[in-house]
Amino acid sequence: MDIFRDTATLRAALAGRRRAGDRIALVPTMGNLHDGHHSLIALARRHADFVVASVFVNPTQFGPNEDFARYPRTPDADARGLAQHGCDAMFLPAVDDLYPFGAEAAVRIHVPGLSDILDGASRPGHFDGVATVVTRLFNRVQPDVAVFGRKDYQQLLVIERLVEDLALPIRIVGAPIVREASGLAMSSRNQYLDAAERERAALIHATLGWMRDQALDGTEPVRIEAAARQRLADAGFVPDYAVIRRAADLGPLEAGAPAAEGMALIAARLGSTRLIDNLRFG
Ligand code: PAF
Repeated sequence: MDIFRDTATLRAALAGRRRAGDRIALVPTMGNLHDGHHSLIALARRHADFVVASVFVNPTQFGPNEDFARYPRTPDADARGLAQHGCDAMFLPAVDDLYPFGAEAAVRIHVPGLSDILDGASRPGHFDGVATVVTRLFNRVQPDVAVFGRKDYQQLLVIERLVEDLALPIRIVGAPIVREASGLAMSSRNQYLDAAERERAALIHATLGWMRDQALDGTEPVRIEAAARQRLADAGFVPDYAVIRRAADLGPLEAGAPAAEGMALIAARLGSTRLIDNLRFG
């Protein structure tokens, strides 16, 4: 696997691939890769001849009091894992490559509406940072396909909207959530959890399953949401949200709409770690 540290050399290599007729896939990541990321590489491989994974801890998607400084950076292990899982190229850009005028002065992308609810309401500016860096990565790599995990479901919708609105010729593929045996969704942030917290964190997935069962039984979403928040709080979480929404656009699931069109989403803090997860009903 080749490692590219700047846009110019990456572009030169990709131009050769394109001339050879290869379809190119991009898997954007912030590194500290686990089996969830490796599954994205495998999925990308099914859609393309040449798979590029980017590893970049993007400063513009972290709020001032968030974990940008302590976010785990493990590029050597990431490179080994990517090579083992059949990735063709790793793109490891520096901040001034992706943000030539500096992160503060960067042209920003805002996807209205979708960026302002749920995680966007709790983490103001987060999705602007995501949309901004993903657009920059798309411009540099110019992939045919890009793969994103469904654990960050709202992020996936933001990116789908961005691509559609800007008419970018890129197919966005959402990848299934990869879970540990306990049901805990794999995430780089899981490593902030101590052993007891890690065990308790499985309650998030269990609660999502309970919310789905209640919704399919016809219980009103507001009642399910209140009970789910209570269940999490009783177990020592600080719930940010536990909601039932329309899977298509995260709007409210109207009374009378088939429950199968819905999904449950949870964000909750356990100790100092904010965890998110979701479950589609249909
Ligand atoms: O999901 C992530 O890891 C990040 O938000 C992404 C898409 C790589 C953008 O920095």
